[in-house]
Amino acid sequence: MDIEIVRSRFLKHFDGQPGSVYASPGRINLIGEHTDYNGGFVFPGAIDKGMVAEIRLNGTDKVRAYSIDLKDYVEFGLNEEDAPRASWARYIFGVCREMIKRGAKLGGFNTAFAGDVPLGAGMSSSAALESTYAYALNDLFNCGIDKFELALIGQATEHNYVGVNCGIMDQFASLFGKEGSLMLLDCRSLEHKYYPFNPKGYKLVLLDTVVKHELASSAYNKRRQSCETAAAAIRKNHPEVEFLRDATMDMLNEVKAEITAEDYMRAEYVIGEVQRVMDVCAALEKGDYETVGARMYETHDGMSRLYEVSCEELDFLNDLAKKNGVTGSRVMGGGFGGCTINLVKDELYDAFIADAKEAYKAAYGRLPKVYDVVISDGARKLV
Ligand code: GLA
Repeated sequence: MDIEIVRSRFLKHFDGQPGSVYASPGRINLIGEHTDYNGGFVFPGAIDKGMVAEIRLNGTDKVRAYSIDLKDYVEFGLNEEDAPRASWARYIFGVCREMIKRGAKLGGFNTAFAGDVPLGAGMSSSAALESTYAYALNDLFNCGIDKFELALIGQATEHNYVGVNCGIMDQFASLFGKEGSLMLLDCRSLEHKYYPFNPKGYKLVLLDTVVKHELASSAYNKRRQSCETAAAAIRKNHPEVEFLRDATMDMLNEVKAEITAEDYMRAEYVIGEVQRVMDVCAALEKGDYETVGARMYETHDGMSRLYEVSCEELDFLNDLAKKNGVTGSRVMGGGFGGCTINLVKDELYDAFIADAKEAYKAAYGRLPKVYDVVISDGARKLV
């Protein structure tokens, strides 16, 4: 994350006076995909890529925002009817509105921002943007909102101003990330526990298919809807089932005839995934990375076959990982494109990356992008 670029653009755009600089990261997720909005567990960590924003209060009631990467400037007010049209600006506007709804007294500010989280790659560039502004505005306007609520503000921004009914994982990881540690997060209670993650003899590497699917947000919302339908059907027999996280396969089978085959498959995946996160926790405590890897492959299989959020290119990279003896590999994040996350033994790393590049290029005419994972701190003030 390059603070010098942000600073120089900020000074150039806004009367030469510096502001304060804040940063928030993107995230990886070891396991626990599409479990967050089902009240389940996830296992994310913040990464060394994210968003950096410089901000200076301007004493007006207007926000003047410049996206350095898109070279786009937008000005907007802070009332509901002032929503900007530019989609990138809606994230900032949404964060402001959600803070105001919670009683924050915000005023106008000048801001410029840039990021190095690849967009649409499943590393949560949007949560990084939301968390940067939620954290920064809370600090600059002395709102006294805690980090849990800041994460909920980011999530509500997605729901109410972006149209994605996401869970809490991405915003939480971006705000609560800790260098060198992954976190086990209970998405119902928001209880979390850090797990130092330094698997001796293994590396975590992301392979980006560079595929982005246009309809990802409506398909994502549809998955969530299926889960809620299945949970509601189960709840009729088992009132204690608040989310699919509380359900078992036996409970799901009781309502098989009442729900669609599609909703059944979605729920089957989620029930399996909630258990896999638990298995991975137990395995990590014993240093058993073979089990961690085996569960990752099972997750990929479920996301591809039952949840249907993979794509040909992701399946291709997953198969390639298997052929190369990679310990664990799966599609990461919401899916429909983006990255695989791979747990690979040090001695296999070079051959795997070389083979992935060559085979992917031969099949799809372009190279996958390769990102080594560096687990880093969450939202913070830089200057
Ligand atoms: C996206 C969402 C998250 C989560 C993942 C899938 O990243 O923003 O809330 O649902 O997909 O695990």
